[in-house]
Amino acid sequence: MAHKATLTIDGKTVELPVVEGTEGELALDITQLRAQTGLITFDPGYGNTGSCKSAITFIDGEKGILRYRGIPIEQFDRPKPDFLETAMLVIFGQLPNKADLERFRGLSGANSYLDENMRHHFEGFPVSAPPMAQLSAMINALSCFHPEVFKLANDSSFESAAAGIISKIRTIAAYSYRRSKGLPLMYPNSNLRYCANFLHMMFSMPYKDHVVEPEIEDALNLIFTLHADHEQNCSTSTVRMVGSSKANLFASVASGVCALWGPLHGGANLAVIDMLEEIHRGNMKPERCLELAKDKTSGFKLMGFGHRVYKNYDPRAKILKKTCDRVFAKMGVHDPLLEIAMKLEQLALKDPYFIEKKLYPNVDFYSGIIMKAIGIPANMFPVMFSIGRLPGWIAQWKEQHDEQSTKIARPRQVYTGEKIRDYVPMGKRK
Ligand code: ACO
Repeated sequence: MAHKATLTIDGKTVELPVVEGTEGELALDITQLRAQTGLITFDPGYGNTGSCKSAITFIDGEKGILRYRGIPIEQFDRPKPDFLETAMLVIFGQLPNKADLERFRGLSGANSYLDENMRHHFEGFPVSAPPMAQLSAMINALSCFHPEVFKLANDSSFESAAAGIISKIRTIAAYSYRRSKGLPLMYPNSNLRYCANFLHMMFSMPYKDHVVEPEIEDALNLIFTLHADHEQNCSTSTVRMVGSSKANLFASVASGVCALWGPLHGGANLAVIDMLEEIHRGNMKPERCLELAKDKTSGFKLMGFGHRVYKNYDPRAKILKKTCDRVFAKMGVHDPLLEIAMKLEQLALKDPYFIEKKLYPNVDFYSGIIMKAIGIPANMFPVMFSIGRLPGWIAQWKEQHDEQSTKIARPRQVYTGEKIRDYVPMGKRK
């Protein structure tokens, strides 16, 4: 059915075309609105704004659906596709055949090292430097060592750059951790698979290889995979915003890391652990925590709950909840934080405030607990999220650059400042 929309402003009526997506979502096309009426739209936080057409990820937040290139997220649980396979699906649109996957894996392996001169950059940071600051800075610095990124002339140079950065982000992440601990930097080992190689760089010593348990490797692979893309979230929109000026892939992705750092986005898994630890130390009971979260004057939110798009259980959180049990059973750990998390979830899911506002656990609620069990320090959690989200950022950057008609992103505003007034020289100011 063809949809039609009209808008009447001060007696003048204009027709607005309606754009329809493949899953039936409808959007008003307002590209001619200002030209036809002189008005712009006002949508702080962009909750009602479609900034692009995209064929990468489909989300139905009301129903709790997430699909990468049409494939439901639940199918990425068991049997688990390798993170690099998922990355290829997300970036190139199709599940790779064996030869393509092996080529991509080979490119990733061959590109896992960092130019030796990049070590000096690490040495310039204080050992206490937040890993997210190091990550964004070092990804941006990569373009100094790989100037080919300024001109990705064909599919093969793009594929190399994509595989290269997916591989190097892991090395940068592990180096920043090792330096913060005063540990020797471990070189990547291309014989290991993606997640095992990362765990090796994090935890091996020059005299002793870290033994990677398959269950732990699987859990990490799942965490990365579940984060691989999430359509136009804050960091992805940032990557597209920067990319819209035709900034290079590495610069665009580095900006995504900065956006992801905030506690309302990729920093939330860290905030969840802080909150659970505070409850555990006895400073707050779960019931009190819920009361505070409902009290607008407290400034406190139940971290790991709520989502701009999901008004249902985040499908990724459901999968990770099951993974928690597997990882904890394997490691034989009993973590009181997990019990507190379960208690909070139970209380919140039957609390009228949370029900009415449709606040459910999001992916961050469980990912932090699993990463803590694996031995990943809390300040590395957003870094882990960045590694997982990288294929999505690359895919969105590619989609934007492949689209010939893409314009520079340049929103407008409603000005609320002073009306015109005169400059007052210093001596005459009050
Ligand atoms: N605890 C208590 N109340 C909440 C919470 C929460 N975690 N989240 C939302 N609310 C309330 C808000 O106060 C607001 O109440 P009101 O309607 O009375 O004003 C209502 O629910 C709607 O919330 P908004 O903040 O307007 O929703 P928005 O879509 O802007 O924000 C966000 C979504 C940022 C995720 C928010 O739910 C939040 O801050 N959650 C905690 C942080 C978090 O877990 N972030 C991770 C997000 S997922 C990710 O990045 C992977």
